[in-house]
Amino acid sequence: MCNLNCCTLLLISNVSPVAEGKIDRKSIVQQYNLRLNQSHPYSPVQVGNGNYAFGVDVTGLQTFLPHNTLSSWGWHNSSLPSTPNQTYPSDYTGIGCQWLIANPHRINLGRVGLWFGDIAGANVTEYILDDKEQVLDLCEGVITSLFSINDAEVHVTTVASPETDTVAVQISSTLVRTAGLGLFFDFPYVTGNNKFDAPFVGLFNATANHSTTIKYSNRGASITHTLDATVYVAEIAWEGYARISRLHESEHKYILATGQNSETLSFTITYAPQLNASTWKFETIKKQAAAWWPDYWSTGGFISLPASCNSSANEIQRRTVLHPPPPPTQESGLVNNEWYGKFHMEMVFWHIAHWMFWGKWDLYDRSIGVYERFLTSSYERAQEQGYEGARLGKMNDPSGRSAPGEINSLLIWQQRHPMYFAEMDYRYSPTQDMLRKWDAILTGVADFMASYAYWNTTTVRYDLGPPMYPVSENSNPNATINSIFELAYWRFGLDVASKWQTRQNKSVPEAWTHVHNNLAPFPIDQDAYVTYEGIPDMWSTPDYTEDPSGLLGIYGWLPPDSRLNMTVFNNTVAKARRGDVERAVSGLLDVNNSFDGVCMPLGGTRVPTPSAAGLLLAVGMMCGGWDGFEGPVWPAGWVLECEGFTRAM
Ligand SMILES: *[C@@H]1O[C@H](CO)[C@@H](O)[C@H](O)[C@H]1NC(C)=O
Ligand SMILES: *[C@@H]1O[C@H](CO)[C@@H](O)[C@H](O)[C@H]1NC(C)=O
Ligand SMILES: *[C@@H]1O[C@H](CO)[C@@H](O)[C@H](O)[C@H]1NC(C)=O
Ligand SMILES: *[C@@H]1O[C@H](CO)[C@@H](O)[C@H](O)[C@H]1NC(C)=O
Ligand SMILES: *[C@@H]1O[C@H](CO)[C@@H](O)[C@H](O)[C@H]1NC(C)=O
Ligand SMILES: *[C@@H]1O[C@H](CO)[C@@H](O)[C@H](O)[C@H]1NC(C)=O
Ligand SMILES: *[C@@H]1O[C@H](CO)[C@@H](O)[C@H](O)[C@H]1NC(C)=O
Ligand SMILES: *[C@@H]1O[C@H](CO)[C@@H](O)[C@H](O)[C@H]1NC(C)=O
Ligand SMILES: *[C@@H]1O[C@H](CO)[C@@H](O)[C@H](O)[C@H]1NC(C)=O
Ligand SMILES: *[C@@H]1O[C@H](CO)[C@@H](O)[C@H](O)[C@H]1NC(C)=O
Ligand SMILES: *[C@@H]1O[C@H](CO)[C@@H](O)[C@H](O)[C@H]1NC(C)=O
Ligand SMILES: *[C@@H]1O[C@H](CO)[C@@H](O)[C@H](O)[C@H]1NC(C)=O
Repeated sequence: MCNLNCCTLLLISNVSPVAEGKIDRKSIVQQYNLRLNQSHPYSPVQVGNGNYAFGVDVTGLQTFLPHNTLSSWGWHNSSLPSTPNQTYPSDYTGIGCQWLIANPHRINLGRVGLWFGDIAGANVTEYILDDKEQVLDLCEGVITSLFSINDAEVHVTTVASPETDTVAVQISSTLVRTAGLGLFFDFPYVTGNNKFDAPFVGLFNATANHSTTIKYSNRGASITHTLDATVYVAEIAWEGYARISRLHESEHKYILATGQNSETLSFTITYAPQLNASTWKFETIKKQAAAWWPDYWSTGGFISLPASCNSSANEIQRRTVLHPPPPPTQESGLVNNEWYGKFHMEMVFWHIAHWMFWGKWDLYDRSIGVYERFLTSSYERAQEQGYEGARLGKMNDPSGRSAPGEINSLLIWQQRHPMYFAEMDYRYSPTQDMLRKWDAILTGVADFMASYAYWNTTTVRYDLGPPMYPVSENSNPNATINSIFELAYWRFGLDVASKWQTRQNKSVPEAWTHVHNNLAPFPIDQDAYVTYEGIPDMWSTPDYTEDPSGLLGIYGWLPPDSRLNMTVFNNTVAKARRGDVERAVSGLLDVNNSFDGVCMPLGGTRVPTPSAAGLLLAVGMMCGGWDGFEGPVWPAGWVLECEGFTRAM
């Protein structure tokens, strides 16, 4: 595939960013199929659909490790704090405040594992299994898991529906017929006590605190799970003869087994908020997935890197293929829970912006509706705080309620993400419908932005903060004023909102223009930009220099502001020690940004989806280029092809 000279050729720089269909995508994708021979204690292999994900161990199920089954809709509230008379915000201190932060929290819907019955004295652990082999086929969306126990082979196929929250499983083994090899289903309780619940979510031993009931049907059963006010169902449908029964009255474990002539047990399990008599068949779900995944791989952007020539290129290729599809959820995706499973409005950019550059507008469209859904609560928030317009919250529950907290209340850079999305959306589809789609959102947010900026009569200009937190969240909010990224983003946001009005032949509110034109200048110290105005010892304080995200963001991420002085910016870059393409590549592969064997980003209890999505964003821009810059831009010497990317701003 790769001859000795290929790595010494020069960068092919004239590849059309929109040419599609030249790269043999399938053969590249297949090279990165996961091949494992043991469970990963931290990062599960998953199947799912972006709305729902099912994590598995080496058996293709949740047999030995209770990997999670998380969804966008499964949430739970603990009982309200018993502190009385919490009528005013000032009453919400201590327990009451903590309740608002921790509720509702995301729940683990259930666990499905192999039930070994009497096999090996019912004492089966992963270590007594032989010949373990597991493959995640990326082109079909199927996990195949093979192993043997007492010399009998077991073959498990696991696949998720792209349409419903259904997992389909087929188990083939003589043990199904001869020894009662079957399945168990179990349901956990949840407390909301853990801000970070990883790797496993929920309590399987608090059996007295919740209930399950089973209703039988022809070749199926539905189990209703009630945890306080939360109720949902698990609908199980099987083929052929099988029986399901509860193991102990006081627990929530159910066993499914066949005992007749068949060596195959196929079933589907669908989790849903309401009963829906689902009777999905294994083959139907497998066909759905086998149609969805090839379509996913063949549309939108793709990069072919010289993976066999250079290990860095190989690692970036692996990450672009094996990225966990990042849903618009918490920063740990649907892998485990962080921040109680809530999601963060400032991170919405890092969860979905890359889909625009990769030309996957259907995936982007799935989640971009969040701004419209949250518009009413954003207006209410601004009004309560005495501002005009609509103020987006930060750490949100699905209803749009923002959790209390200092950073939650004082972070502001999430406000104008809608402007970035709207502008990219309009480039893709410059229609009246598109202008209407974003009009109310941009107007509400721009009104807030204009009203948030503070007219300083001494300096005769608008200030942002204090108090505020800058994007890097690393300064004292009481001292933070006119942080550079927020100033740039404020101007950018008001600029887009104004253009939006003009495109609709409407007049631009004067307040927007006045704020835009009179915002404080970018803060400078020692001929370089600094994080905020008056920051002490910027370049000798490790806390500040280690996170120059706001400083670099004004040029690397945002389109350059007309007030940006490139001499000063270059001085800043020199001080921040960032720069050229070689550095960009080594930045992507920095040890602080490592991915494990399952290709999940490392990060303690936090599996940071942003680093997976952020990598795709950077790769997308390095392929598709940006205004005034033709992509691709990669190290000279890397022979590569990019196709199907959209140019960034
Ligand atoms: C399991 O896989 C690892 C990593 O690929 C490999 O090093 C190891 O030899 C394999 N073990 C067995 C028993 O096949
Ligand atoms: C949790 O409580 C809040 C506030 O009462 C309510 O709006 C929300 O619907 C509840 N969520 C669940 C899952 O019970
Ligand atoms: C709660 O409010 C009621 C009515 O104002 C009052 O009678 C009662 O004493 C208050 N309870 C506490 C614990 O403050
Ligand atoms: C299962 O294995 C454990 C540890 O290896 C042992 O202590 C226990 O007695 C075994 N139980 C049965 C039923 O064999
Ligand atoms: C339940 O399990 C948790 C850990 O998962 C443990 O900390 C707790 O002590 C257990 N509780 C009981 C009653 O066994
Ligand atoms: C379960 O309920 C009991 C009785 O209400 C309570 O004491 C216990 O804390 C609850 N356990 C959990 C894990 O919420
Ligand atoms: C039941 O499932 C079908 C198929 O996914 C769906 O179209 C329908 O809306 C669902 N009905 C209810 C009541 O959830
Ligand atoms: C891979 O490419 C990078 C970027 O050009 C270069 O720094 C590195 O030395 C190369 N590695 C090998 C093993 O050739
Ligand atoms: C106006 O700006 C000056 C200079 O930055 C600052 O010291 C002062 O605190 C500001 N005034 C107010 C009322 O914020
Ligand atoms: C900022 O000021 C508020 C109000 O005076 C105070 O409660 C808070 O602790 C201060 N925060 C920091 C980080 O100093
Ligand atoms: C940019 O900044 C440099 C260094 O402070 C200064 O000499 C130069 O005049 C500035 N350029 C413009 C266009 O303001
Ligand atoms: C800033 O640095 C870039 C990259 O090194 C260079 O191309 C550009 O000319 C520099 N601009 C100024 C004004 O120094």
